Amino acid sequence: MSLIEQIKAKAKSNPQTIVFPESNDERTIKAAQIIATEGTAKVILLGNADAINSSAANQGVNLEGVSIVDPNSTDKIQFYAEQLAEIRKSKGMTIDEARELLKNPLYFGALMVKLNDADGMVAGAMNTTGDVLRPSLQIIKTAPGISVVSGAFVMILPTKDYGQEGIMVFADCAVNPNPSAEQLAEIAYASAQTAKAIANIDEPKVGMLSFSTKGSAKHDLVSKVQEATKIATERYTDLVVDGEFQADAAIVPKVGASKAPGSDIAGKCNVLVFPDLQAGNIGYKLVQRLAGAEAIGPILQGIAKPVNDLSRGCSVDDIVNVTAITVCQAQAVK
Ligand code: ACO
Repeated sequence: MSLIEQIKAKAKSNPQTIVFPESNDERTIKAAQIIATEGTAKVILLGNADAINSSAANQGVNLEGVSIVDPNSTDKIQFYAEQLAEIRKSKGMTIDEARELLKNPLYFGALMVKLNDADGMVAGAMNTTGDVLRPSLQIIKTAPGISVVSGAFVMILPTKDYGQEGIMVFADCAVNPNPSAEQLAEIAYASAQTAKAIANIDEPKVGMLSFSTKGSAKHDLVSKVQEATKIATERYTDLVVDGEFQADAAIVPKVGASKAPGSDIAGKCNVLVFPDLQAGNIGYKLVQRLAGAEAIGPILQGIAKPVNDLSRGCSVDDIVNVTAITVCQAQAVK
């Protein structure tokens, strides 16, 4: 069974309620039908029921088993506006402002997740990463013990030479342009959790990447990764983490043994934490394109309840797959 088939099977074993704010996107409506039929999630589409049903009819899509909630006519709007104003009280938000903001389905969806009317949200087929993330960061906020949300990719390599049987996790490739040492340590911890929950990696071994291995180069950028490794090691005692490693020292056993002889995991890392977003984003795209790896993500990690961001060029299958991942994350939260 492929990894994505395993994820779908896990989702189906305990389907969670996922809200989709982008019902004006035809791919989302098609995906809703497939998800409902396959039983991987309980689907809520946000929007006007007549518009959604007519779009579905035009595409020959049967929305049986799919719920529709209209943010503009739900009888919960007053309660929701009060709750949102309370959550954003420190920013001076009034109930009227909250009611106005809730006309944006991304805010409405994030609030549904916060208030347990949904277990997770999937969006981004029509909106940028920033527009999907902002309401989630403001309303759902981060998980206990985590202050930074980040984005991981599960990389499925064409051969089984690296990672666990060819499966690795890369982070942060999507969110934080220039994380601090503290934030990198948190990203390491969250990535190990993603490796277990989503990539089925039994023993995450986290390598903190740099252009230096164990002090071979001296630079402020290297010091940041050394500091992050120290924080992660001290703070998360059950986390298997080491660094700083160059990429080859992290994943090639012979290079790891020669450049970092005292390390238990050099050359064997299956989770790679990049020092900043430029390295992470470039790194995963190069491995995807040059090595022919399948890149599943970005999987957002560190949010108190799961939200995932689609690419605007996503396919219907991408939406179905990301939904199954979101369900597995929601299962893990519970
Ligand atoms: N983790 C947790 N909370 C965060 C984070 C984070 N990484 N970033 C911002 N926040 C919080 C802030 O504390 C703030 O909370 P508050 O309003 O309660 O005080 C709230 O989110 C909004 O923060 P801002 O700084 O005003 O939000 P900003 O407009 O900077 O957006 C965002 C944050 C969206 C994460 C931004 O950093 C961003 O756009 N990052 C890059 C995304 C990107 O373009 N990725 C590459 C493409 S994806 C790909 O190729 C796979």
